[in-house]
Amino acid sequence: MALLTVQGLVQHFPVAGSRKVVAAVNSVSFDLEPGETLALVGESGSGKTTIGRCVLGLIRPTGGLIRYRDVEMGGRRTVRSPELRGKLQLVFQEPAESLDPRQRLYEQIDEPLRALGVNRADREKRVRAAAARVGLREAMLGLYPAEISMGLQQRVGIARAMISEPEIVVLDEPTSALDPTARAEIIDLLIRIQRDLGTAYLFISHDLSAVRQISHRVAVLYLGMIVEQGPAAKLFARPSHPYSVGLLSAVLLPNPTIRRESRISLAGEIPSPIDLPKACYLASRCPMVEERCRTRMPEVETVEPGHLVRCYRHEEVVRDGDAVDYFARFQAEAERILGAGMPPQVSTGQPMNESERGNVDHG
Ligand SMILES: Nc1ncnc2c1ncn2[C@@H]1O[C@H](COP(=O)(O)OP(=O)(O)OP(=O)(O)O)[C@@H](O)[C@H]1O
Ligand code: SF4
Ligand SMILES: [Mg+2]
Repeated sequence: MALLTVQGLVQHFPVAGSRKVVAAVNSVSFDLEPGETLALVGESGSGKTTIGRCVLGLIRPTGGLIRYRDVEMGGRRTVRSPELRGKLQLVFQEPAESLDPRQRLYEQIDEPLRALGVNRADREKRVRAAAARVGLREAMLGLYPAEISMGLQQRVGIARAMISEPEIVVLDEPTSALDPTARAEIIDLLIRIQRDLGTAYLFISHDLSAVRQISHRVAVLYLGMIVEQGPAAKLFARPSHPYSVGLLSAVLLPNPTIRRESRISLAGEIPSPIDLPKACYLASRCPMVEERCRTRMPEVETVEPGHLVRCYRHEEVVRDGDAVDYFARFQAEAERILGAGMPPQVSTGQPMNESERGNVDHG
């Protein structure tokens, strides 16, 4: 049984003074298993945050089902209801959003336990353990948020989210406000915490390198619809949807010679979610568009167990694409350089030895 099941999730927001709606999420389905990371990726406005908010019960979906431990969410059963308190948590993009500037760090980490009615002695032990887990020295616990860096603030946000030992944490762009060093440290920290505690993550990010590093599976969203979903290693190595190819090839890796080469690039702007295309949502931007793409929405197809795609021409996308996991190669190269303290060179080797992340097929 999956920890979380989302089926046909729809979220439409009314447009003030009109009968139109913003179709933010359009029939999204996915599962989340205990201890795994599913990444939601896609351009700005593709519905990632809205899905995260629906999962946490912070907004009431227009349609579809969300089941946590096989019981339906919704109505009074939200992240704030007593039986679910502490089980699902959220880490924000801006650490300051989850922290109270007037409270010392100790109290901020302690707060979820106070809400759960945990006694003082246990709370104290757990706060110190949570702080140590995220690498905060005990002396820091008496400080206020403004007295520490953004990276440390995000560690406090993570300690606070983790202290109730949640089963699911929604991480909405948890590293995008941070500098590259703090970003890498936070990703490592999240991976370590997941290994130790078995927490499942719904990881929302524009940073595809971080996604590649932390995720077991990836769902690619376009205009509130999942166009491709599958194991991270497979999706990064052989994307099957033109949009996934476009998204990956748009990423600028530091070394241009190891940038993903692709014949698919996406033209034009993302259409308005108030006026969705009638058939395939990508038709106005896709270089492989055909007549049928403009008249009928393609069905979701299973290309391999656990790997789903919604495109008429997915076989050609794979056949004509290259089969190199450039992110893995880039990462292996970065690790080699950092490890050896050597100047950058182009790697001709195999992707990194990836025994756990990205290669785990939960399908
Ligand atoms: N409360 C709301 N009322 C009206 N429209 C909304 C509301 N919340 C989100 N939207 C719209 O829904 C769509 C999806 O927004 P969402 O914030 O989920 O996207 P996102 O993928 O998280 O984007 P980003 O990467 O910029 O954070 C956007 O068009 C957005 O303007
Ligand atoms: S269905 Fe057609 S328009 Fe849509 S992504 Fe596939 S090829 Fe492109
Ligand atoms: Mg967002």
